[in-house]
Amino acid sequence: MTSRILEPLTLRGTTLRNRIWLAPMCQYSAVDGMPSDWHLVHLGARASGGFGLVLTEATAVLPEGRISPQDTGIWDDEQQRAWSRIVDFVHDQGAHIGIQLAHAGRKASTSRPWEATQGTVAPQDGGWEPLAPSPIPFEGYVTPQELTAAQIGAVVEAFVEATRRSHLAGFDVVEVHAAHGYLLHQFLSPLSNRRTDGYGGSLANRSRLLLEVVTAVREEWPQDKPLLVRVSATDWAPDGVSVQDVTEVASWLAGLGVDLVDVSSGGNAPADIPVGPGYQVPLARAVRAGGGIPVAAVGLITTAEQAEQVLVDGAADAVLIGRAALRDPMWPLRAAHELRAPVAAGSGVSWPPQYARGAWR
Ligand SMILES: Cc1cc2nc3c(=O)[nH]c(=O)nc-3n(C[C@H](O)[C@H](O)[C@H](O)COP(=O)(O)O)c2cc1C
Repeated sequence: MTSRILEPLTLRGTTLRNRIWLAPMCQYSAVDGMPSDWHLVHLGARASGGFGLVLTEATAVLPEGRISPQDTGIWDDEQQRAWSRIVDFVHDQGAHIGIQLAHAGRKASTSRPWEATQGTVAPQDGGWEPLAPSPIPFEGYVTPQELTAAQIGAVVEAFVEATRRSHLAGFDVVEVHAAHGYLLHQFLSPLSNRRTDGYGGSLANRSRLLLEVVTAVREEWPQDKPLLVRVSATDWAPDGVSVQDVTEVASWLAGLGVDLVDVSSGGNAPADIPVGPGYQVPLARAVRAGGGIPVAAVGLITTAEQAEQVLVDGAADAVLIGRAALRDPMWPLRAAHELRAPVAAGSGVSWPPQYARGAWR
């Protein structure tokens, strides 16, 4: 039986073996931005588990762009070399690997989720002063410094430099993180952007930094390699960004050579989000239909049948699996089994030969 989630997807010169992708997930386990053996095992296990594309966690383009002091980065040579070891291992498993490039803006310098004390990490405790479009704090966090025009230019440059390093490290895909209330989303949303210069006001102005970053990254990133952008398609809050706004931005991104929009939501303001199975799929469908660009759907897609239905319904071109992949690194192989799809070399997903005995009984 054929299965849509196991069909390959070609974006530019890259053919991903299937449409089940590992969602980017912070591991809060880096020292000085360096990915470690933990990241090798986390991403490597999911690559051997059959994911077509594994995405790294939000990886900072500048030290002050980290969400927590334990985030990964790609702003120096040592980090680039550490990533290339992970990239090589993922490739050996037949998967492709994308790096999510990020700047946390006003949500930077925060404690990792399992620390006893939550919120902003002060400079004397290894943190730093966060930067943002406007001096408006995210609830419970410190008030950020407003970025100057020169600092905005430096952010664009940092995305370009990180893109150059990502290519040298061997990554196949770049995903620009413009979701979840981080810097590029902070610019997009009127809830966090009150600027009166060319980066604030109209939707076109609030999108300016994202469009500048994407234009510059696209120019640096090889023409045959796909470029993705993750968006929050709604703030789920009055006066925040709406799915109509983000759909329009997605159409602009398509015009700049973005290959696929990864449609998430929320993260920039406290909100009552109607969380449930596939709760963001309608947003993906709307962006795909109105933006004229391929999309990926994410958010409580947990079963093979459900993932298959998202693609059969034409809501998305690929699905991302997050927490379910933390429970089960072999999610795609299990899904293929449940859908009675062939599991063999050339079929979209195959058992690593070392584990082939596990496929039978
Ligand atoms: C531990 C953890 C870390 C996450 N880190 C990131 C991240 O670095 N970048 C990102 O865009 N989303 C991040 N997310 C969100 C996931 O990518 C995903 O969108 C979300 O978990 C919903 O999908 P799910 O229901 O399949 O888990 C994270 C989620 C979890 C659970």
